[in-house]
Amino acid sequence: VFPSKAEATRKLAAETAELIRSNDAAGKKTVLGLATGSTPIAFYQELIRLHKEEGLSFANVISFNLDEYAGLPKEHKESYWYFMHQNLFDHIDIKPENINLPSGTVAEADIPAHCAEYEQKIKDAGGIDLQILGIGRTGHIGFNEPGSPKNSLTRAIELDPITREDAAPAFDGLENVPTAAITMGCGTILAARRIVLMAWGKNKAPIVNEAVTGPVNDIVSASYLQEHDNAVFYIDEEASTELP
Ligand code: F6R
Repeated sequence: VFPSKAEATRKLAAETAELIRSNDAAGKKTVLGLATGSTPIAFYQELIRLHKEEGLSFANVISFNLDEYAGLPKEHKESYWYFMHQNLFDHIDIKPENINLPSGTVAEADIPAHCAEYEQKIKDAGGIDLQILGIGRTGHIGFNEPGSPKNSLTRAIELDPITREDAAPAFDGLENVPTAAITMGCGTILAARRIVLMAWGKNKAPIVNEAVTGPVNDIVSASYLQEHDNAVFYIDEEASTELP
C-alpha cells in the first residue's frame, strides 16, 4: 500500500527500468505484458519521463497487450491499439514490430487461429518477464470475466454487464460499448514471471479485498494471483480501505 498513486507508479516504473537495463546489459530482450484503462496511465507517463529525461531505451523491449475490444479497428479512439499508441508507444523508442496486441477486427471464423498465434508469439519471445494488470469491478484481469478458468488461454469473451457499464461514458453510451473482446487468458497471465496489479481509489477497494483475501475461484479471476509465487498488488490508500 502506497501513500499515493504517484509514489506507487514511480516505484513500478523504476523497477521496470531496472529490469530493462539489466536485460540490456546481458544482451537479452525484455518482454512486458501491458494493460490499458485508466489505471496504468500514470505508470506510462513515468516510463515516458524516464525515456525522455533519463535515457531509458525500449529498443530491446517486446510488448504484449492483454486485450482488445472485438469489432474496433486500430483507428477507433477507444481501441486499445489507439490507447497504447497515444499513452505510451508514440512517446518512446519501442520498435513497431515488437508491439503486439490482439486484433479486434479478425473475422469470427479466424479468431481461434489468431488467439493460438498470439499465444505462440508470447512463447517465441521467451514468455512474459513482467505483466502489468489493472482490476475490473467484476474482479477481471485482462477481460477474464467471472467464470474464466485458471488455465484459460487467449480467446474471445463476452463482456460482463458491469464492465460494459463502466466503459459506457468513454463510448458515449452503453449501446456503443462492444459486447465482446479478445483477451489473454488467466493461464497466459499466470505464466508471467512477475505480475504487478495496480488499483487506485475507493471504487476498487471491495474487489481488491476479495481478490487478496477471498477464496481462490473463477468468480474473481484476480484471486488466482494468490497462487502465483511472484505476484504483488501496488495500491493506494483508498483502494486498501476494505482490507482487514
Ligand atoms: C485493460 C484490462 C482491464 C482493466 C480493468 C480496469 O487492458 O485488461 O482488466 O485493467 O478493467 O480498468 P480501469 O483501469 O479503467 O479501471
